[in-house]
Amino acid sequence: MSESSAADILARAQSEIVACQTPEQVEAFRIQYLGKKGIVTAMLKGLADVAPDQRKVIGQQANELRSQIESLLTDKQAALGGARSKSPITIDYTLPGKRYPNGKLHPITQTLNEITDIFHGMGFEIALGPEVETEHYNFGSLNFPPDHPARDMQDTFYISKDLLLRTHTSPIQVREFEKKKPPVRIIAPGRTYRQEAISARSYCVFHQVEGFYVDRDVTFADLKGVINAFAQTYFGSDVKMRWRPSFFPFTEPSAEVDISCFLCGGKGCRICKHEGWLEILGCGMIDPNVFAAVNYDPEEYSGYAFGMGIERIAMLRHQIDDIRLFFENDLRFLNQF
Ligand code: DAH
Repeated sequence: MSESSAADILARAQSEIVACQTPEQVEAFRIQYLGKKGIVTAMLKGLADVAPDQRKVIGQQANELRSQIESLLTDKQAALGGARSKSPITIDYTLPGKRYPNGKLHPITQTLNEITDIFHGMGFEIALGPEVETEHYNFGSLNFPPDHPARDMQDTFYISKDLLLRTHTSPIQVREFEKKKPPVRIIAPGRTYRQEAISARSYCVFHQVEGFYVDRDVTFADLKGVINAFAQTYFGSDVKMRWRPSFFPFTEPSAEVDISCFLCGGKGCRICKHEGWLEILGCGMIDPNVFAAVNYDPEEYSGYAFGMGIERIAMLRHQIDDIRLFFENDLRFLNQF
């Protein structure tokens, strides 16, 4: 083996590798030079027959040639997109796959969606309203008198004299009444704000779902039917309900609805504070003063409205005893839902 023949082989290999365009051609090249019967392999095997004084020089040349050809190969493999291992099997199909963590909806979003879906299924359209509201929509149009305590700066986040963060989803009623003529049947989920002292039971941000229906001849019995259907769907078919008279400026008459405690079935436990009942919403027949502000004729139309706090319902449902958990975004808490 002469010095020039190693150089010749390299020169030939260099020009051949340029012509290789597919992984199959590269593999053929590898076999031709480095395979069991390849040119370089033969050279190394042939060393045994070489005169001992030449063996060292020729051995070095052969090894150098092998590594030059190997690097031609790896460069080409990289250029063609990824190295190929010597074995044709590169994937172990028996290994378990990589698991990627799935994102989830926040428990409040889940509760909001579930409740909204139930009403949507009963024919309610979905509407949204702005979180930054005017004093008029949040209070005035809903028949809150000018000196009502809810309007107080202590309770409401004011942005300016007339702008505030809505304290409830009820202003969506008026916004929708202004846009539509009866029949209007709407469910309106959303975020609400109150300047509360933060505690296990109250937070400055929370969520509500508002529902309302206005048409000819809508009665309190319709309201009871819809709330009953909702409670049985959401809390279970043997839930009992209790209606208590209440007061809201925008409904007359007004009521608050309790359901029998689903944990103890009404016998009394920690969740229901041993009362057997859990309050879930406020509701009533829409006050004629609200209709007057949107030019609905109260002689022609009547309607009901209801509103519920989502955090409260989610807390009851999942037996969570601190509202702040919903807003801290601790994954150990959120991953449970
Ligand atoms: N907006 C009331 C609140 O935040 C809840 C409410 C009560 C809504 C009665 C209604 C209703 O639509 O009819 O406390």
